[in-house]
Amino acid sequence: MKKVIIMGATSGLGKEIAKFYISKGCVVGIAGRRTELLKSLQSLCPDRVHIQPVDVTSADAPAALEKLVRACGGMDLYVHSSGIGFNNPQLTLDAETQTVTTNAVGFTQMIDTAFNYFARQGHGHIAAITSIAGTQGLGAAPAYSATKKYQSTYLTALAQLARVRRRSVRITDIRPGFVRTALIEGGRYPLQMNVEYAARRACRAIERRRRIAVVDWRYAILVACWRLIPRCLWERIPVYGK
Ligand SMILES: NC(=O)c1ccc[n+]([C@@H]2O[C@H](COP(=O)([O-])OP(=O)(O)OC[C@H]3O[C@@H](n4cnc5c(N)ncnc54)[C@H](OP(=O)(O)O)[C@@H]3O)[C@@H](O)[C@H]2O)c1
Repeated sequence: MKKVIIMGATSGLGKEIAKFYISKGCVVGIAGRRTELLKSLQSLCPDRVHIQPVDVTSADAPAALEKLVRACGGMDLYVHSSGIGFNNPQLTLDAETQTVTTNAVGFTQMIDTAFNYFARQGHGHIAAITSIAGTQGLGAAPAYSATKKYQSTYLTALAQLARVRRRSVRITDIRPGFVRTALIEGGRYPLQMNVEYAARRACRAIERRRRIAVVDWRYAILVACWRLIPRCLWERIPVYGK
């Protein structure tokens, strides 16, 4: 039975991805900070679902992930969905630094723990939900867009490392556009996808072992177009209101 661990499974995309792998008959390890929500997801299939409270920013998070892997009897696929983000053109320091701590420091701790586990094992698959926000700097959300770029660059580095070290560790970078979850609640964003649809596209990309997948096709076109915009022009575009 395939063993799948999902970090950030208490809500949104991570929760839907967890439901997908539970429905596929996998052994599923789910983690996040909100234990009650983990328990409620576990109740769908208590025999095959293991839970572990994890705050990715804490120093004991790598040990907590290893504990969850042991509870599941191993790990074949690690999915990282934990993340936070704020619209913060006022540059409120707390929001910016919290975002860096979760999306960069927490991400690194977890992804490295999974990578080292797979490198020792000789095979495995890491998938992370980054964002299309990482493809350009966004004035509305500086820390969010910068940390998402960090995540994508980090994944590229690990994909290279796996090849150079001849380890069969597959890396998938999933870059969604706007998805109707708690992360964007209250905001007015265009082309919003519902979470079930976006998670289905994400799972399809994972199952096809894609290296990079923009979710969905409309955002793939958008990203391809905005990549053509020269920096001097991009920096003049008012992507957000005040
Ligand atoms: N929604 C969008 O429009 C959108 C677009 C592109 C990319 N994304 C990315 O998709 C991922 C999932 O977000 P979502 O949209 O599904 O939002 P969400 O419903 O708010 O889910 C965020 C998940 O991250 C977990 N998390 C946050 N801080 C954590 C921490 N310190 N330790 C452990 N887990 C933590 C939360 O669990 P706990 O609170 O229980 O810890 C929750 O399960 C994020 O990385 C986000 O950047 C979202």
